[in-house]
Amino acid sequence: MIAIKDLKKSYNSHEALKGISFNIKEGEFYGLLGPNGAGKTTTISIMSSILTPDSGEVLINGNNIYTHPNESKRIIGVVPQEIALYNELTAEENLWFWGGLYDVPKTELKKRIDEVLTLFGLSERRKDKVSTYSGGMKRRINIAAALLHQPRIVFMDEPTVGIDPQSRNLIFEVIEKLHSNGMTIVYTTHYMEEAERFCDRIGIIDNGQIIAEGTLDELRKSSSAKETIVITFNNLNDDKVQKIQSFWKDCNHTDDKIYFYTSDLKTELSKIISQCSDAGADIHNIEIKKVNLETVFLSLTGKQLRD
Ligand SMILES: Nc1ncnc2c1ncn2[C@@H]1O[C@H](COP(=O)(O)OP(=O)(O)OP(=O)(O)O)[C@@H](O)[C@H]1O
Ligand SMILES: [Mg+2]
Repeated sequence: MIAIKDLKKSYNSHEALKGISFNIKEGEFYGLLGPNGAGKTTTISIMSSILTPDSGEVLINGNNIYTHPNESKRIIGVVPQEIALYNELTAEENLWFWGGLYDVPKTELKKRIDEVLTLFGLSERRKDKVSTYSGGMKRRINIAAALLHQPRIVFMDEPTVGIDPQSRNLIFEVIEKLHSNGMTIVYTTHYMEEAERFCDRIGIIDNGQIIAEGTLDELRKSSSAKETIVITFNNLNDDKVQKIQSFWKDCNHTDDKIYFYTSDLKTELSKIISQCSDAGADIHNIEIKKVNLETVFLSLTGKQLRD
């Protein structure tokens, strides 16, 4: 449904996108996960024709968005990273403004404004100026504005940054509802928890390039990241640590804990436990840290996803 082909974009001499390509199927929830400055907003802005690439193209249903701007505008909703609302207008007036830009007929628009205000739990505050809203409420209206023309595709650029947990949960519920109703969603985030929770497929973006792509499982398997078994011991001493380290080379020791790294948790967990007891070590607690997107990112780039 969406094909992104070799997008390149420089700001002055800075190469923000170095050739970004990916495809999204109808109804798919696609996540672009990457740290600050990776190129997420630049990619989304080009996909929404807010920004022109230096080269490359964006096809929606086979149509180039630059040669068929009206068709793509009709079916795409865009939630920008920077909140785009008029503070001196009420929520309702803001929605009238944005709905008008998308040419939604008046009677229809009135109905849809009611619907989105209900969906985002803001019906009672509809007559209040946006300047009196909390950050989370502004975010909710920012998303609502992108849904008024009932798009089939929505691009959301970090829609949950800097908001309270209640607004975040409400936004999550709405997003899940939209997705289960068949909407195609492209979602950028630097929160790995969000990418893991929602996305059918994830593109990991860093330094203007997609460095890995796939389902969560595929990304976990393809990376060299290992699972970690953290065992806390009672009365751990140097002698016991040495014995343990002699049978398990790939481990680290700090205080009363030993971190065992493994690429085959299922078979190796019981082996590690029995060898610890052979070494006379008294196990107090066992914690298993599965490979997540943070560790995948770390293994690919050598740096943390979040600063
Ligand atoms: N208008 C601009 N002028 C100059 N450089 C820019 C401009 N917009 C973005 N950049 C640079 O391009 C790179 C990619 O920026 P972009 O905003 O796409 O990243 P991002 O992944 O959205 O980051 P964030 O998580 O902070 O939103 C960054 O190095 C940024 O500083
Ligand atoms: Mg951004």
